[in-house]
Amino acid sequence: MKRDFISIADLTREQIAEIFALARRLKADRQDGWPHPLLAGKTLAMIFEKPSLRTRVTFEAGMVQLGGYAVYLSPPDIGLGTRETAPDVARNLSRWVELIMVRTFSHAVVLELAHHATVPVINGLSDLLHPCQVLADCLTLIEQRGSLDGLKVAFVGDGNNVVNSWLNAASKLPFSFALACPPGYEPDSGVLARARQNGAQITITRSMEEAVGGADAVYTDVWTSMGQEKESVIRREAFRPYQVNATVMALAKNNALVMHCLPAHRGEEITAEVLDGPQSVVFEQAENRLHIQKAIMVWLLR
Ligand code: CP
Ligand code: NVA
Repeated sequence: MKRDFISIADLTREQIAEIFALARRLKADRQDGWPHPLLAGKTLAMIFEKPSLRTRVTFEAGMVQLGGYAVYLSPPDIGLGTRETAPDVARNLSRWVELIMVRTFSHAVVLELAHHATVPVINGLSDLLHPCQVLADCLTLIEQRGSLDGLKVAFVGDGNNVVNSWLNAASKLPFSFALACPPGYEPDSGVLARARQNGAQITITRSMEEAVGGADAVYTDVWTSMGQEKESVIRREAFRPYQVNATVMALAKNNALVMHCLPAHRGEEITAEVLDGPQSVVFEQAENRLHIQKAIMVWLLR
């Protein structure tokens, strides 16, 4: 049966460990200048219904580094769901390429593509989840702190796609997760309930002190995600008390890591001083998108 990479919740702990090990090996190879054409002759189709810097470049460069090729498909190119249905797009692409990556709005579109494709489908972000991001972030934490064992990850801000993927990760990996968010901006209730059922240690609170107190890493993301632009004024008001700044960082452990999936809006969800300060690992996270996604592609096809 073909594999997909749609949600961290679909993976076993052993599979996550395999992906981390592969990513570390590919990263070390690259640093040592060793080529690794593990996907020579393979093609990745990348469907983008939303903008991207990191996801597009890391998948495309990653595929080239693995000896393969990536085709970028922008919204007007294929008109997913308008010019052609998602099932037909999946059936066509499956005849030509070995992998499909999709960044879209509705998570149901990712599931529909995966259902009808006979090749692996990778979730490059949906309104519900951003699993590539959070696996790259976990890899970054492992590199920075040796392991995830007993770490406390605090997230300040919107209970969005990135948070939902953190909840899934907390149900598989040995760290605790605390979110400080305003009322009405909690994570997906189904994802939260399943993560808790599966043993995740999760705190959802209004209190910055409770969430950030004793944290090993403080993470934030934009207040208005892609597709929510019409809500930006009301969101800016709701999230104003939830900015990651020096006062908030003082609640965390000394030298707690500052994390952000990027793009960042300095002066909104995070101050420039903190984002660009010595505790920030945001560009390590961005770099690890490359290594983890190469690992995911190799893992899916092996
Ligand atoms: N973090 C992230 O996914 O970045 P892009 O939106 O630029 O791909
Ligand atoms: N939550 C953000 C993440 C961007 C990488 C969004 O969906 O726009």
